[in-house]
Amino acid sequence: MISILKNSAKSLYSSNSKYLGSFKNNILYSTQKPCFNLQSSTTPFAFQERAYSTDYIFNDSGKKRVLITGGLGQLGYGVASELRKEIGTNNVILSDIKVPDSSVKENGPFVHLDILDPEAIEKIVVNEDIGAIIHFSAVLSALGEQFPQKALDININGTQHVLDISKKHQLRLLIPSSMGAFGPSTVRQNTPDLAIMRPKTVYGIAKVYAELMGEYYNSKHGVDFRSLRYPGIISADSLPGGGTTDYAVDIFHSAVKSNKYNCYLKNDAGLAMMYIDDCVTETVKFFLADNNTLKQRVYNVDAISFTPEELANEIKKQWSEKFEITYAPDFRQNIAITWPEYMNDSKAREDWGYNPKIVSTKDLVSVMFQKINKQKSL
Ligand SMILES: NC(=O)c1ccc[n+]([C@@H]2O[C@H](COP(=O)([O-])OP(=O)(O)OC[C@H]3O[C@@H](n4cnc5c(N)ncnc54)[C@H](O)[C@@H]3O)[C@@H](O)[C@H]2O)c1
Repeated sequence: MISILKNSAKSLYSSNSKYLGSFKNNILYSTQKPCFNLQSSTTPFAFQERAYSTDYIFNDSGKKRVLITGGLGQLGYGVASELRKEIGTNNVILSDIKVPDSSVKENGPFVHLDILDPEAIEKIVVNEDIGAIIHFSAVLSALGEQFPQKALDININGTQHVLDISKKHQLRLLIPSSMGAFGPSTVRQNTPDLAIMRPKTVYGIAKVYAELMGEYYNSKHGVDFRSLRYPGIISADSLPGGGTTDYAVDIFHSAVKSNKYNCYLKNDAGLAMMYIDDCVTETVKFFLADNNTLKQRVYNVDAISFTPEELANEIKKQWSEKFEITYAPDFRQNIAITWPEYMNDSKAREDWGYNPKIVSTKDLVSVMFQKINKQKSL
């Protein structure tokens, strides 16, 4: 048993993908170089017991290094930092098509990698003794509706490349899925792991593809494929990358900047959400979990559910009574109403001990303002 200090995700980048752009204040803008804030910070939920060994070997050839693709997005850097504490800094290679800030390279191995170049991926897998891939490269839901061809290419072809390389080299492969894999015909409350999956976005269709192909490669070719269906991920340090739930991050920064926020969803658009520290910790826990404990390859994970109005009310209570929210729903509202308000994640809890710490809107708002205030004082 080991105890680890649970640090928050520390990445901060100024914008989204260089060549696609991102949403800010509902406007799509093209982007600049990422920049990172590597100041460490701890949450009130600092220590957690883990019941597994630190001696990880991910395949029969004894390979134990991990490649993270799309590692300069909202989730990659935090997961790399947490995983490096478990298996060693040099055993986790971060990669992305973007150019990293110099501090990224100072904190561990980084390689420039385009997920659409399978030869380049394989070269890294072979030359760097990779035994597992965490595949984060993606075009998120809202951005995917703006650039469907790009989303198809990266989310389906990129995924297929890592599946094929994982089959050839017998790698462990974690590809996150999303509540976006569900659609309007899915039950929106307490959505079970096994539910109707008829998504209406390119992003969602690609997630269903990844889930089904991953399961197929697992049963047919023995690939140790794993996937979590994330809800919207909320972070203070790293900016979201063009998803439908980005409002729940933007609203905090807007509150601090101007004490008001114009929301692109309706006041009552309830959605499933999770705080980034829980996402990072639980993803690493799942990634390192003994394969024998996993009774299925894809799990729902959820933590909090709220509407924009409920979130705004809590911000008013904890930040300022004068905080104002207005609503100007755009195309993202049509996506939001097809996604779960909350998912049933009991199987994840039973099988590998999924256990998020921030489970109320009140605690989420509190931890977000603590983080944002800390950043401001640096
Ligand atoms: N953030 C969320 O709220 C959320 C919710 C559900 C699921 N997910 C899933 O989690 C994973 C990580 O999400 P994220 O929020 O970090 O995404 P993000 O958009 O912030 O980051 C994606 C990264 O992929 C990179 N990328 C794009 N094209 C690439 C290419 N051709 N080659 C290599 N890299 C490329 C981008 O540069 C970016 O750094 C994705 O699979 C996403 O679908 C995220």
